[in-house]
Amino acid sequence: MTGKAKTWAWCLGTVAVVLGATVVYQKSFEVFSDAHAAVAPSNETAPLQAFPTQVMGGITTPSVATDTVDAKGRPVALACSNCHAVREPNRHTASGTDLDTFHQGLSYQHGGLTCLSCHHSENYDRLRLADGTQLAYERSMDLCAQCHGPQHRDYQAGSHGGMTGYWDLNQGPRERNHCLVCHDPHFPSYPPMMPVFPPKDAGHPKTSHATHSNH
Ligand code: HEC
Ligand code: HEC
Ligand code: HEC
Ligand code: HEC
Repeated sequence: MTGKAKTWAWCLGTVAVVLGATVVYQKSFEVFSDAHAAVAPSNETAPLQAFPTQVMGGITTPSVATDTVDAKGRPVALACSNCHAVREPNRHTASGTDLDTFHQGLSYQHGGLTCLSCHHSENYDRLRLADGTQLAYERSMDLCAQCHGPQHRDYQAGSHGGMTGYWDLNQGPRERNHCLVCHDPHFPSYPPMMPVFPPKDAGHPKTSHATHSNH
């Protein structure tokens, strides 16, 4: 090839690579925006992806265990509404120490919220959104999202709460943890981490704290 032809071939090659990269970038962006739909409220239609995004560790309606067993020997659990349908709701309760007749010992520290900010006063088998709507426990992430928009957005974008699996849902499935896998709704501050040894500095082994201890 002459010098000129080489330059042309090089230019064409570069253009092709740039175009290709653009297509790949746009493609990944489409997948990225579909990922938002995958964890958005469930009344939206499912995205057209080969594999799903699965949220691990969701919850179902809680109940209160009792010491009684039924005729088949299975422990009897009481639905929350069993007692609460006949009890006047207490809108002021906002701490574990307020509870002296039942639910004693509940460790509770969540931004000074009253219990009935989240539990529905007319139906204790449901959660409550700010506008008063009842919300099934299965949809509890919508409750967290309502007050923690930035973290929920980060979560949807994959930068809060972690994820495993595939970015490209056409290649394979993706798993995410529910907020409640890491945060207790009553005591949501993340538990302190176990301290670990600092990384060894290969260049200056003598200054590494981890190697000092036995001398
Ligand atoms: C055996 C009866 C019983 C069951 C079952 C029960 N509760 Fe309660 N609950 C009580 C009593 C009694 C209080 C008041 C405690 C106090 O203030 O000392 C209370 C208080 C509460 C409060 C504080 C607000 C208020 O109205 O007093 C919340 C929230 C609550 N319960 C949620 C639940 C949930 C959720 C469940 C189901 C997992 C449940 N309860 C099951 C008896 C019950
Ligand atoms: C930020 C929202 C929120 C607030 C505020 C809140 N709860 Fe809950 N509560 C939940 C969720 C979500 C669950 C279900 C947890 C699960 O199943 O893992 C739950 C579960 C419960 C349960 C049944 C399971 C258990 O932990 O014993 C009781 C009882 C309860 N809440 C009582 C209360 C009381 C009493 C208060 C106030 C002192 C309160 N909650 C405040 C969200 C909340
Ligand atoms: C009604 C509003 C409301 C709801 C619903 C709510 N939160 Fe909160 N949350 C708060 C407030 C207020 C704080 C305190 C913020 C502060 O101190 O700056 C807080 C604090 C937190 C923190 C930080 C705690 C700390 O001490 O570091 C976490 C984590 C958290 N919430 C998780 C959740 C999760 C998970 C849910 C869903 C079960 C939820 N929240 C539902 C209002 C809410
Ligand atoms: C895999 C575990 C994990 C999951 C899942 C998770 N978080 Fe967190 N979250 C954390 C950690 C770790 C922190 C930082 C705690 C700290 O700095 O003390 C945090 C901090 C927070 C805070 C405090 C403000 C901040 O940014 O420091 C809020 C609010 C919060 N998370 C809400 C949520 C909500 C809402 C969800 C679900 C949409 C969620 N988290 C899912 C681990 C998780």
